[in-house]
Amino acid sequence: MTIESKINGRLHKLSIRSGDRLVDILREDLKIESLLPDCRGGACGRCLVMLDGRLCHACLTPAFKIQGAEISTYELIKNIHEAIAVEEGFLEDNISPCPFCHAVKILAMADLLIKHPLPDTETILGYLELVPCACTDPEIVATTIHKVADQMNRRKFNREK
Ligand code: FES
Ligand code: FES
Repeated sequence: MTIESKINGRLHKLSIRSGDRLVDILREDLKIESLLPDCRGGACGRCLVMLDGRLCHACLTPAFKIQGAEISTYELIKNIHEAIAVEEGFLEDNISPCPFCHAVKILAMADLLIKHPLPDTETILGYLELVPCACTDPEIVATTIHKVADQMNRRKFNREK
Protein backbone atom coordinates (compact mmCIF):
# COMPACT_ATOMS: atom_id res chain seq x y z
CA MET A 1 0.00 0.00 0.00
CA THR A 2 1.30 3.49 -0.81
CA ILE A 3 0.46 6.50 1.29
CA GLU A 4 1.35 10.16 1.15
CA SER A 5 2.09 12.38 4.08
CA LYS A 6 4.02 15.49 4.93
CA ILE A 7 6.90 14.72 7.25
CA ASN A 8 8.98 17.55 8.67
CA GLY A 9 7.69 19.87 5.99
CA ARG A 10 8.32 17.56 3.01
CA LEU A 11 5.78 15.52 1.14
CA HIS A 12 6.66 11.79 1.12
CA LYS A 13 5.19 8.90 -0.84
CA LEU A 14 5.70 5.85 1.33
CA SER A 15 5.26 2.15 0.72
CA ILE A 16 4.02 0.58 3.88
CA ARG A 17 3.91 -3.06 4.85
CA SER A 18 1.06 -4.67 6.69
CA GLY A 19 1.53 -4.21 10.43
CA ASP A 20 3.89 -1.24 10.05
CA ARG A 21 3.71 1.37 12.77
CA LEU A 22 4.55 5.03 12.29
CA VAL A 23 7.73 4.48 14.26
CA ASP A 24 8.92 1.90 11.69
CA ILE A 25 8.41 4.35 8.85
CA LEU A 26 10.19 7.18 10.63
CA ARG A 27 13.12 5.16 11.95
CA GLU A 28 13.68 2.49 9.35
CA ASP A 29 12.54 4.11 6.11
CA LEU A 30 13.26 7.77 6.76
CA LYS A 31 16.15 7.26 9.21
CA ILE A 32 14.89 9.94 11.59
CA GLU A 33 17.30 9.75 14.49
CA SER A 34 15.51 11.63 17.25
CA LEU A 35 13.22 8.67 17.90
CA LEU A 36 14.81 5.98 20.02
CA PRO A 37 11.89 3.62 20.60
CA ASP A 38 12.32 1.34 23.55
CA CYS A 39 9.14 -0.19 24.95
CA ARG A 40 7.10 -0.03 21.73
CA GLY A 41 4.03 -0.07 23.93
CA GLY A 42 3.28 3.55 24.79
CA ALA A 43 5.16 3.60 28.09
CA CYS A 44 8.57 5.21 27.55
CA GLY A 45 7.63 8.14 25.32
CA ARG A 46 10.81 7.85 23.27
CA CYS A 47 8.84 7.73 20.04
CA LEU A 48 6.84 10.93 20.54
CA VAL A 49 6.05 12.96 17.42
CA MET A 50 3.49 15.57 16.46
CA LEU A 51 0.69 14.18 14.30
CA ASP A 52 -1.49 16.95 12.86
CA GLY A 53 -0.44 19.22 15.73
CA ARG A 54 -0.97 16.71 18.53
CA LEU A 55 1.62 14.72 20.43
CA CYS A 56 1.37 11.02 19.67
CA HIS A 57 3.24 7.80 20.30
CA ALA A 58 4.59 6.65 16.95
CA CYS A 59 4.89 3.10 18.29
CA LEU A 60 1.13 2.91 18.82
CA THR A 61 0.12 4.55 15.55
CA PRO A 62 -0.58 2.26 12.60
CA ALA A 63 1.31 3.56 9.55
CA PHE A 64 -1.83 3.65 7.35
CA LYS A 65 -3.30 6.27 9.69
CA ILE A 66 -0.84 8.90 8.51
CA GLN A 67 -2.27 9.00 4.98
CA GLY A 68 -2.72 12.73 4.27
CA ALA A 69 -1.45 13.70 7.70
CA GLU A 70 1.33 16.02 8.77
CA ILE A 71 4.06 14.68 11.04
CA SER A 72 6.68 16.77 12.81
CA THR A 73 9.56 15.34 14.80
CA TYR A 74 12.16 16.96 17.01
CA GLU A 75 14.28 17.62 13.91
CA LEU A 76 11.75 20.26 12.82
CA ILE A 77 10.38 21.36 16.18
CA LYS A 78 13.82 22.11 17.65
CA ASN A 79 13.93 25.30 15.56
CA ILE A 80 10.77 26.84 16.94
CA HIS A 81 10.82 29.54 19.57
CA GLU A 82 9.35 27.39 22.38
CA ALA A 83 11.82 24.53 21.85
CA ILE A 84 14.79 26.91 21.77
CA ALA A 85 13.59 28.54 25.01
CA VAL A 86 13.27 25.13 26.73
CA GLU A 87 16.78 24.10 25.61
CA GLU A 88 18.14 27.38 27.00
CA GLY A 89 16.22 26.95 30.26
CA PHE A 90 17.53 23.41 30.71
CA LEU A 91 21.06 24.59 30.05
CA GLU A 92 20.76 27.47 32.51
CA ASP A 93 19.44 25.19 35.26
CA ASN A 94 21.84 22.34 34.54
CA ILE A 95 19.13 19.96 33.46
CA SER A 96 20.66 17.63 30.92
CA PRO A 97 18.32 14.93 29.68
CA CYS A 98 20.16 11.81 28.52
CA PRO A 99 20.52 11.08 24.79
CA PHE A 100 17.59 8.64 24.95
CA CYS A 101 15.01 11.19 26.05
CA HIS A 102 16.52 14.57 25.20
CA ALA A 103 14.75 15.08 21.87
CA VAL A 104 11.33 13.86 23.00
CA LYS A 105 11.47 15.86 26.25
CA ILE A 106 12.19 19.05 24.32
CA LEU A 107 9.41 18.19 21.88
CA ALA A 108 6.92 17.54 24.70
CA MET A 109 7.85 20.72 26.59
CA ALA A 110 7.68 22.82 23.41
CA ASP A 111 4.21 21.46 22.71
CA LEU A 112 3.21 22.20 26.30
CA LEU A 113 4.27 25.85 25.95
CA ILE A 114 2.50 26.21 22.60
CA LYS A 115 -0.76 24.90 24.02
CA HIS A 116 -0.37 26.34 27.55
CA PRO A 117 1.74 29.52 27.46
CA LEU A 118 1.51 29.83 31.27
CA PRO A 119 1.09 26.24 32.43
CA ASP A 120 0.33 25.28 36.01
CA THR A 121 2.50 22.70 37.74
CA GLU A 122 -0.05 19.94 37.35
CA THR A 123 -0.16 20.43 33.59
CA ILE A 124 3.64 20.43 33.34
CA LEU A 125 3.88 17.24 35.40
CA GLY A 126 1.21 15.66 33.21
CA TYR A 127 3.27 16.37 30.10
CA LEU A 128 6.43 15.10 31.79
CA GLU A 129 4.70 11.82 32.48
CA LEU A 130 4.69 11.27 28.73
CA VAL A 131 8.45 10.78 28.98
CA PRO A 132 8.92 9.06 32.33
CA CYS A 133 12.41 9.39 33.71
CA ALA A 134 13.95 8.32 36.99
CA CYS A 135 17.04 10.50 36.53
CA THR A 136 15.61 13.98 37.08
CA ASP A 137 13.01 15.05 39.63
CA PRO A 138 9.99 16.22 37.57
CA GLU A 139 9.37 18.99 40.14
CA ILE A 140 12.80 20.45 39.29
CA VAL A 141 12.01 20.35 35.58
CA ALA A 142 8.63 21.95 36.31
CA THR A 143 10.35 24.84 38.12
CA THR A 144 12.50 25.46 35.06
CA ILE A 145 9.51 25.29 32.73
CA HIS A 146 7.67 27.87 34.88
CA LYS A 147 10.70 30.13 34.55
CA VAL A 148 10.91 29.63 30.79
CA ALA A 149 7.18 30.32 30.40
CA ASP A 150 7.42 33.51 32.51
CA GLN A 151 10.38 34.78 30.48
CA MET A 152 8.64 34.06 27.19
CA ASN A 153 5.48 35.82 28.32
CA ARG A 154 7.41 38.83 29.62
CA ARG A 155 9.24 39.16 26.30
CA LYS A 156 5.98 38.86 24.37
CA PHE A 157 4.33 41.48 26.59
CA ASN A 158 7.24 43.90 26.11
CA ARG A 159 7.10 43.42 22.33
CA GLU A 160 3.40 44.14 22.29
CA LYS A 161 3.65 47.31 24.42
S1 FES B 1 8.61 3.21 22.10
FE1 FES B 1 8.05 3.50 24.15
S2 FES B 1 6.29 4.72 24.03
FE2 FES B 1 6.76 4.27 21.98
S1 FES C 1 15.52 8.91 30.78
FE1 FES C 1 16.76 10.45 29.94
S2 FES C 1 17.35 11.66 31.61
FE2 FES C 1 16.10 10.12 32.44
